[in-house]
Amino acid sequence: MNHFELTGGELACEGVSLRRIAEDVGTPVYVYSTATLERHYQVLREALVGAGLGDPLIAYAVKANSNVAVLRTLGRLGAGADTVSEGEIRRALAAQIPADRILFSGVGKTAAEIAFALDAGVLEINIESEPELELVEKVARDKGVRADVALRVNPDVKAGAHDKISTGKADSKFGVALQDVGRLYARAANSAGLNPVGLACHIGSQISDLASMEEAARKMRGLVEGLRAEGLSVERLDLGGGLGVPYFNQPEPPSPAEYAARIAAVVGDLGVQLAFEPGRMIAANAGVLVAKVLYVIARPDGRRFVVLDAAMNDLLRPAMYDAFHDIRPVRPREGEALAYDVVGPICETGDTFARDRRLPPLEAGDLVAFMTAGAYGATMSSEYNSRPLTPEVLVNGDRWAVVRARPSYEDMLSRESSPDWL
Ligand code: LLP
Repeated sequence: MNHFELTGGELACEGVSLRRIAEDVGTPVYVYSTATLERHYQVLREALVGAGLGDPLIAYAVKANSNVAVLRTLGRLGAGADTVSEGEIRRALAAQIPADRILFSGVGKTAAEIAFALDAGVLEINIESEPELELVEKVARDKGVRADVALRVNPDVKAGAHDKISTGKADSKFGVALQDVGRLYARAANSAGLNPVGLACHIGSQISDLASMEEAARKMRGLVEGLRAEGLSVERLDLGGGLGVPYFNQPEPPSPAEYAARIAAVVGDLGVQLAFEPGRMIAANAGVLVAKVLYVIARPDGRRFVVLDAAMNDLLRPAMYDAFHDIRPVRPREGEALAYDVVGPICETGDTFARDRRLPPLEAGDLVAFMTAGAYGATMSSEYNSRPLTPEVLVNGDRWAVVRARPSYEDMLSRESSPDWL
């Protein structure tokens, strides 16, 4: 079900018109739907439980949308958090997600971050390499504790919609090589500073092909059985995130139910607690970016440019991955659709959201919404061109609240200073 629909000729998020939010908060602005966030979490949970996968941990990947109110919405339903930095752990804790539902992943954790995670009492640290294993061991021993750790494995499986978001091939920077798993797991088991509790993998993002997920699960199963045959205990298996979402120009990705069934067929009887790290499938379709048309420029060659007040600093995905986002006028005008190049005001050609996109006629002052922008939208935004970060709004039925305010120019400048020689 879609919670962004035309109501009285105007696009609304649940019971709130996007125009009203834009008038109050200004544009550009991210708007998130509580009902969609909740529904996506629940659909996934029901699919996993329904497939007989016990009581899995759904550790929402904070990087997709790390707003504390979004995390709190999911945490209240029972979600955990997959985190990749001290900042993300702090966000999850600020959202009252219990530490024992927080995973700490990432290929470059610092000693300070590891110490922070251990003090916070996170459920497990997903170790990605041998030098990291040594560092976690040292930090834990210095503290006189034994760190619960999992090994993140590189299962050598190709998956993901774009090379920049594929993570599971042998030549990617992520995870421990398959042939090193046994040795490193045994090493952890024999260490006074480490307590290996399981294995983890994550093969990529925006995955539409369940065969790659299945292949990874099968390889992980083989590893679990191999470790157990060596007398090592494996309690938890984390299969990562990665399930794709429809960006409107693509075929429907597999449903959570199909995903759960395929996973259950491979690892359902393994006797492990399963963990998942979904990001995009929870947050993407729960958010839009609302922007205003500044100018419509007609060129002599017939090309039409729509210049928005949103730019690549607000929504980077089209510039970075050639990603497609559906663009909808908030109040569609009558008339024949026209082809537009939809661009932002930033001084580089990469600041282009869409070329030759057929849209209802647009005029200066109109509002448009970028759909499916709830994941990797606000979190990847920056202040490039000294544009203040985009505010975020959370809607719940007829209620809405600003959950991240637009910083003022004073806020932006207050972080900087000139050295005394200037
Ligand atoms: N777990 C780990 C260890 C990850 O690295 C990621 C995403 C996830 C879980 C969540 O994956 P998801 O379920 O969201 O696919 N910025 C890119 C996506 C980068 C994904 C990075 N890792 C984009 O905008 O498409």
